Amino acid sequence: MVAIGKVKVSQLIERFGSPLYVYDEDILRDRIKILKKSIGYPNKQILYACKSNTNPSIMKVFREEGAWIDAVSPWEVEIAFKAGYQSHEILYTGDNVTDEEMKYCLDKNIQQNLGSLSQIERYGKMNPHSHICIRINPDCGAGHHGHTITGGPESKFGIYFDKIDKIKSLASKYDLKIVGIHSHIGSGILEVDEFIKAIDIILGAAQHFKTLEFIDFGGGIGIPYRPRDHGIDIAHFGQRISQRFSQFCKEYGRNLSLYLEPGRFLVGESGTLLVTVNNIKETPTHKFAGTNSGFNHLIRPMTYGSYHEIVNCSNPEGTPHKIAVSGNICESGDVFTQNGKGIEDQSIPEIREGDILGILNAGAYGFSMASNYNTRPRPAEVMVRDGQARLIRRRETFDDLTQTLV
Ligand SMILES: Cc1ncc(COP(=O)(O)O)c(C=O)c1O
Repeated sequence: MVAIGKVKVSQLIERFGSPLYVYDEDILRDRIKILKKSIGYPNKQILYACKSNTNPSIMKVFREEGAWIDAVSPWEVEIAFKAGYQSHEILYTGDNVTDEEMKYCLDKNIQQNLGSLSQIERYGKMNPHSHICIRINPDCGAGHHGHTITGGPESKFGIYFDKIDKIKSLASKYDLKIVGIHSHIGSGILEVDEFIKAIDIILGAAQHFKTLEFIDFGGGIGIPYRPRDHGIDIAHFGQRISQRFSQFCKEYGRNLSLYLEPGRFLVGESGTLLVTVNNIKETPTHKFAGTNSGFNHLIRPMTYGSYHEIVNCSNPEGTPHKIAVSGNICESGDVFTQNGKGIEDQSIPEIREGDILGILNAGAYGFSMASNYNTRPRPAEVMVRDGQARLIRRRETFDDLTQTLV
């Protein structure tokens, strides 16, 4: 990779500095178009799960492509407003939601998705005679790592699918009209069958609610991180969901709206974290290329043992060597090349001090999970398209890090 969106990597670093998050706008637009096209069912809505990346410039791109927003905190809602979304284009799916958060959403006129019986009771007292959506736990989950599985008995999310009677009696106690059923079983799923298994259970639950307007099957669509990974067959995914949903609507007697709320699939592959190598050293077991970034900027390898392909943008034709790529944070886990069990060297064209490396597929849960650990600022973010680059978030400064101190 010597260029992103037809802009040379060396020019990006010269102009915006290093480390740097770079997003390819064409990939953002392409992914949402592909997903929409795959779903033949006409009455559909994509909600971008902005927890994966809340840069308003990225959120604006998805709005231009017709997306709405899945938000999980009042601050995500505020960012969505900043990116131009209207109240009716936002679904609020918080977890362990406080009364203050529910009040905030009511004030802003935002549809709430309720994930516990306690929440229905509290919401009902606060706002009887209104419309609600219910998050169901369908008793099964899936995901690329245990921490990202959000369905099944080990998961804290949603109301278990066997509690339908309790949901209904609480709803009738407060005259709440259940207009939506929601479920999200996990993140990073590459098998269509995993989705269909959950969808069948959700639709089984949905038939007990007679006032529905939409059903939201959540996000979770995976992307191929390793070169050997197969991506999800998105055409097959869309076709199976459409078919199942159309059949349900026929039996239900009305054509409901079909919602999906992906994050990773829309934004993951568009993002590259560019870092600079400043140190090369060897131990008896590994050669390390040390860089000016770390898990404070991309925590996925350390948290989930996630693989991110790394390329040498400065020496793409060099002879490949096995090497570990590490960061500048004071913890041994600060290695970009690991697999959850330990360090996993990657074969990368010869790395020299001063080289720029591209850590690929870093658009989702990259910047949005970044921190200031070791009191280091977070990188700038840049969007590229057709040979043009524009800054979409400036690099943090020392003042940014200290402005909340009293
Ligand atoms: C409720 C909900 N919806 C959607 C998503 C998006 O998941 P993904 O980025 O895997 O599509 C998440 C991720 O955690 C979520 O919790």
